[in-house]
Amino acid sequence: MSEFKQLVFSGVQPTGNLHLGNYLGALQKFVALQDTYECIYCVVDMHSLTATLVHDDLVEQTRGIAAAYLACGLDPKKNIIFNQARVPQHAELAWIFNCVARIGWMNRMTQFKDKAGKDRENASLGLLAYPSLMAADILLYRATHVPVGEDQKQHLELTRDIAQKFNNDFSEKIANLGYGVEMMVGEEQVNGFFPLTEPLIEGPAPRVMSLRDGSKKMSKSDPSDLSRINLLDDADTIARKIKKAKTDPAPLPGDVEGLAGRPEADNLVGIYAALAGVSRENVIEEFGGRQFSEFKPALADLAVEKLAPIGEEMRRLKADPAYIDSVLRDGGERASVKAEATMKQVHEIVGLLAN
Ligand code: TRP
Repeated sequence: MSEFKQLVFSGVQPTGNLHLGNYLGALQKFVALQDTYECIYCVVDMHSLTATLVHDDLVEQTRGIAAAYLACGLDPKKNIIFNQARVPQHAELAWIFNCVARIGWMNRMTQFKDKAGKDRENASLGLLAYPSLMAADILLYRATHVPVGEDQKQHLELTRDIAQKFNNDFSEKIANLGYGVEMMVGEEQVNGFFPLTEPLIEGPAPRVMSLRDGSKKMSKSDPSDLSRINLLDDADTIARKIKKAKTDPAPLPGDVEGLAGRPEADNLVGIYAALAGVSRENVIEEFGGRQFSEFKPALADLAVEKLAPIGEEMRRLKADPAYIDSVLRDGGERASVKAEATMKQVHEIVGLLAN
């Protein structure tokens, strides 16, 4: 019995500067996964056209995400690192998935509802079909695992729905061509061309909140730069932002339960834990009962130690766009080999004359 080869795929969209939330929620996890899985990390530049069509610095932003991947420690030899637009099969498979997925599925996506706002009729068709392109990203490589944050889980479920419908609709063709792969779906053994990709949740997934308001997510669009730590911030800026972070007057509690109802304290403890690679309990064991005047300098030191070298390396890499482009080109070539192999079989399954 053949099985799907374990493969991780993930992508980051090149819009806006990366911040601590992106680092802890995505990049740090990507780095940890490269030791155990074969991984493909994509800069999903075509996704950036869905909400805003015209960008004045998309190329720059694309290189910026690639620089962040490298600066965080992703090895471009071990993994495939590339940008989506280099591999046109993403768009091609997305088209086929547009014909698999139902309009109702897309209309139900909370991200679409949020981004389209009140004037849905005027949203781009690309924004509506965004999850179809995301499914294509993943399934073009028949990836089995995707590290995603909470906010992308619904899109990953939709990816599974698309894979399942494709597998069902073409089950006879897939079997006749001998392209089916066995997989377990719950207790049941089924056969399909596309895997039902699983989310990968590694370690505690901190929701990194604004440093100015513990009830809001850290966001690149918050007007206050003090609300977030950007990956490109230098050591002084990182330390200053942590010292200015909002807190309440009480010292840190003696146990994690005591963080309930104290969003700012909870956020800073969560950030410390995630950066140090320990649990919140461990942080409270060390700092419980202490004042923020003691905890904040420790957190600032840790954040500077972990993040400042990344920012420095990003700046160095961004000054060498030719090197970044060469990494993306090489990754694109390796991704293309896999993409072409999948699409050859998809053409046969769907019955498109393309050879
Ligand atoms: N939608 C993802 C986000 O906004 C980005 C993305 C695009 C992605 N394609 C993907 C993530 C494939 C994982 C796998 O974060």
